[in-house]
Amino acid sequence: MIIAPSLLASDFTRFGKEAARAAKSGAEWLHLDIMDGQFVPNISFGPAVVAAVRPHAKNIFFDVHLMCGQPEILLEPFVKAGADQIIVHVELGDKVPQLLWKIKSLGKKVGLAVNPPTSINAALPYLDKLDLLLVMTVNPGFGGQSFIHECLPKIQQADAWRREKKLNYRLEVDGGINNQTVADCAHAGADTFVAGTALFSKRNMGAAVAKMRKIAHAHDPALADLKV
Ligand code: DX5
Ligand code: ZN
Repeated sequence: MIIAPSLLASDFTRFGKEAARAAKSGAEWLHLDIMDGQFVPNISFGPAVVAAVRPHAKNIFFDVHLMCGQPEILLEPFVKAGADQIIVHVELGDKVPQLLWKIKSLGKKVGLAVNPPTSINAALPYLDKLDLLLVMTVNPGFGGQSFIHECLPKIQQADAWRREKKLNYRLEVDGGINNQTVADCAHAGADTFVAGTALFSKRNMGAAVAKMRKIAHAHDPALADLKV
């Protein structure tokens, strides 16, 4: 199970210290939400911020989530800034094949995100090209939103395809993840959990990460099978 604090929920006056806090917390990944004010009605931060926080969090995997209408012009700047994985949205339609190819050609892990209103079937043509499939559990653009429970069947379907097609993409969820919703998502088959508010709001992020990971493990269906 992987826990990925989202920097969007951090103290924006202290990006370096907040990234270091996440790196020390025991979280394996740092989730970096990039918003362009076009694809989503919000603007967050860009490659310069990612490059600035990179040296403060050397030992953590940078999971860069592009909520942008023209990610093709941003791939190289984010790779240069220190991204380890780049996630683009399936809602970009015809651009998706080229985007996935380009991220891979830059030597980085490839992720594809599916928004709540979008059918999970939209991801089907790309599953064998992915290192990660992200099922959004809020409409993208802001942290601190409530979890959309209607997304749970999409996680189950993505997990079923992974087994049936013998693929090994990671299954990530993002939005409204806390100690209650992480259990539902793990039970549905998710293995990678983005959490902003639930983690950055805690004084002791290490304890919060450990608790969230423990709950996720306890609800992992694979472990449940072993228990029988
Ligand atoms: C929303 C972002 C999420 C968000 C998660 O567009 O993609 O990563 O920051 O924040 P919480 O965990 O507060 O919902
Ligand atoms: Zn995100």
